[in-house]
Amino acid sequence: MRAEKPCLGCGICSRIRYELMTSYSFPPEFIADLRSRVDIVSLVSDYVALTKAGVNYKGLCPFHGEKTPSFTVHEGKGIFHCFGCGVGGDAISFLKRIENLSYPETLVRLATRAGIDISPYERRRGSLKEQERARSERENLTNAAACAQNFFGRLLKENLSGRVGAYLKKRGISPAAAEKFGLGFAPEAWSALKDEFRRQNIPEAVAVAAGLLVRKEGTNRTYDRFRDRLMFPIRDVSGTVIGFGGRSLGDAEPKYLNSPESVVFNKRRLLYDLHHARPAIAKSGFAFLVEGYMDALALYLRGIDNVVATLGTALSAENVAAVKRYTRKVAVFFDNDKAGRAAAFRSLPLFMAVGIMPDIVLLPEGVKDPDQLASGLDDTGLREALTRQVPLFDLFLQEKGSAQIAYSDRLQFLRQVIEMITRLPDEPLRGMALRATAESLHLAEEIVLDEYRRLRDKPRFRSENRPQNEAAGAAAGTPGAAVQTAAASPDEMVLATFLLYQDLLDEFGDDYQTLVESRNCERLFHKLRHWRSATGNGDFLQQLAGDGEDDSLAVLYARLLHLPAPAEDLTVARKLVSDCFTSLRKRRGNAASRDLDRALTMCQDEEQMFALLRQKMELKKRLLAS
Ligand code: CTP
Ligand code: MN
Repeated sequence: MRAEKPCLGCGICSRIRYELMTSYSFPPEFIADLRSRVDIVSLVSDYVALTKAGVNYKGLCPFHGEKTPSFTVHEGKGIFHCFGCGVGGDAISFLKRIENLSYPETLVRLATRAGIDISPYERRRGSLKEQERARSERENLTNAAACAQNFFGRLLKENLSGRVGAYLKKRGISPAAAEKFGLGFAPEAWSALKDEFRRQNIPEAVAVAAGLLVRKEGTNRTYDRFRDRLMFPIRDVSGTVIGFGGRSLGDAEPKYLNSPESVVFNKRRLLYDLHHARPAIAKSGFAFLVEGYMDALALYLRGIDNVVATLGTALSAENVAAVKRYTRKVAVFFDNDKAGRAAAFRSLPLFMAVGIMPDIVLLPEGVKDPDQLASGLDDTGLREALTRQVPLFDLFLQEKGSAQIAYSDRLQFLRQVIEMITRLPDEPLRGMALRATAESLHLAEEIVLDEYRRLRDKPRFRSENRPQNEAAGAAAGTPGAAVQTAAASPDEMVLATFLLYQDLLDEFGDDYQTLVESRNCERLFHKLRHWRSATGNGDFLQQLAGDGEDDSLAVLYARLLHLPAPAEDLTVARKLVSDCFTSLRKRRGNAASRDLDRALTMCQDEEQMFALLRQKMELKKRLLAS
């Protein structure tokens, strides 16, 4: 993705990482859609502890130091505002500000968080026509899935007195609960859904691509994939149905039949019911990870919403990354058998690679899985049973450690554990895990530490582990996904002019400092001013590079030098700077007016409201005057 692009203009680009211009191009509809899909409360909760206050949420402002909360979030409107420092905006501006990202970077990050596939907006990925084709293919598949879900749901209602009704009853699922969960019924027929698709004008080819119809090999004939099954719709994180899991009502094999992989259905990436569990996970700061649809459903029916499940596949790095977007506190809650325990242990290194030390819920003897636990206990009993958790890492040490008898096996086990520990991104966690290891294996802590240091510093060991580490943890939006917009902002235009006509720094510098919007422009401006007053000669870039800071300023500098010359002489340059200032002032005025409107919508105090209205009137006057 990243390219070293030698530069003819300034000769510096070979020395810095220079991202190719704009990797993504987002249309306005995308941004509107993104805004509507992001849950601002869950986003802000990643950074601020929020508590509910009336229709708003409140917390300590992350943008200025304060002791009493004046930072307010309005969930329904998707906006935030701080009554202390006046900062406010929507989810996009929140993330941009708190992570100090560029606008496109912020969009990439948010979209990833919301589970929105941004690949269609990648610039170098084919023509517009191709993008359009990919988009419509996805739309066709989700349409077919939605149609199937409607159909299955209707059939379930119509057949409650039949076999499927009896099955629901046996599993303790009321018709209302089934409806709430979107369950359905695929009848015992070869062309029930097929006929429905025909009625709804859904082409056979689309239905086959969606995995809902199967084409008989070597023929043109197609038939329903799911027959005589209880249907669990599987949704992506935005709630769109993209596939199904079908539970056989009888003994038919396989017990569960899932939709095959498609452009929209990727089991590695999906977590069952995440779209529903998301707010509950954010709210409780905690997630249960179970193995089965039924387990998730059973807990949900008992009012436990912060539950996600894998889709009958081993937990993947993508799954872990998805969970980590909402919480670092996870409890695996798997079947009470050898396979369940093994699956839990297999998940451990994946979690550790992103800094999560999960717990494991211990089921009482004789209870098979979370579903059985939930159906066998009353509410208090269940709540209590769920608190029976131990750190998975500790259990791993204890069970696996004690199973190693031979000295050579014990040494190998120690090294395996240390390998897992080196994946942990946090030093304190590593310390805790190393201590637990020493204790559990009855070794002096110093010995474990020595071995840890030795293995950590071994180059092969390191290079084998780090990339995995990063792959698991990397959501897009980390610096690697830097994106640039082609058009220069007023901030950048002025700065580019300053670089060319340095005398203007004295004349306009102070105004620029009060008006500049971008953090990086401001930082570069300060460096430039400082460099000029301190030395006035020598290589400015050399100094930038020598600062040992991130290279974003050098990248910005290179970009400014690449802009078309902003002005051909000093008079034009002056005019350009003051035009930019006017536009910055106007933007600032408009932003201030929006801030006030926002504050007004969230204000719950009469006196404060009058003060805000007064401010608004004054601002209006000033804007009209300028
Ligand atoms: N699974 C699957 N294919 C199978 C069996 C299981 O995809 N043939 C997946 C399903 O996602 C299922 C999960 O693995 O939900 C857990 O399997 P299992 O523990 O066997 O199912 P239960 O959830 O216990 O199902 P039930 O209670 O209906 O027997
Ligand atoms: Mn079960």
